[in-house]
Amino acid sequence: MSALIQGLLWAGLAISSMSIAHASNEHAVALDKAKISVLDQASLQRGADMYAQYCMGCHSLKYVRVNRAAKDLGWTAEEGVGHFQYLRGGKGKPTDMIETTLNPVTAKTAFGTVPPDLSLEARLRGTDWLYTFLRSYERTADGKVINHLFSGVAMPYVLEGLQTSLPAREFDAKVADLVNFLDYAAEPAKPKRLMLGWWVLGFLMILVVLTYLLKQEFWRDVKTQA
Ligand code: HEC
Repeated sequence: MSALIQGLLWAGLAISSMSIAHASNEHAVALDKAKISVLDQASLQRGADMYAQYCMGCHSLKYVRVNRAAKDLGWTAEEGVGHFQYLRGGKGKPTDMIETTLNPVTAKTAFGTVPPDLSLEARLRGTDWLYTFLRSYERTADGKVINHLFSGVAMPYVLEGLQTSLPAREFDAKVADLVNFLDYAAEPAKPKRLMLGWWVLGFLMILVVLTYLLKQEFWRDVKTQA
């Protein structure tokens, strides 16, 4: 009998350790938490500038329009063109989509693959993945570039200059802003949706107070009649 129990216990242990091993194998490295909020407009603005400066040379955000993003980030449409068309010397229309300056044919020859559109990337991979990915590049002693999270990645170490010139905390903060902006881009209605949640809660609070006062009012009559 005890042998049977012991056997069952061992089997249970084996299964649970298998699932732990599986969980940790899911990603090459553990993901770091991106502490971001799309309600932080200043962070979104800094992230948009990071994007225009470091990512737009290869990646598009083809589902995001310049004037819409500008409005959500607290810029005028013209300011939006200036920020998002940074690589085009600030030239473009407010109604343009946020498009890369890279030609896909050149990209294919240079990287062997066309850099994917990043409009939905934050939803596809998640913000923690993005935050970890962008901070997982390293140049090895023999000069080769590796990414600990995405082995064999075709994307160059584009933030190398930034990462090697800034203290880790400042670099992390810049990457967090960038990831925040990509999170916004993946769901431009998110800031409004979150704000709406707070409005609804506020409304419900007021309603609770009014309902309570109403109840007091009704019962006052009942009590005086009794
Ligand atoms: C010099 C061109 C270039 C620049 C600049 C660049 N990327 Fe990339 N990126 C690529 C290429 C090429 C790939 C495809 C990698 C692959 O599939 O191996 C890629 C892939 C990615 C991926 C992974 C997509 C996926 O889910 O497989 C993410 C995320 C990404 N880039 C984000 C960024 C961000 C954020 C920036 C700005 C800091 C940036 N990239 C700048 C070329 C670039």
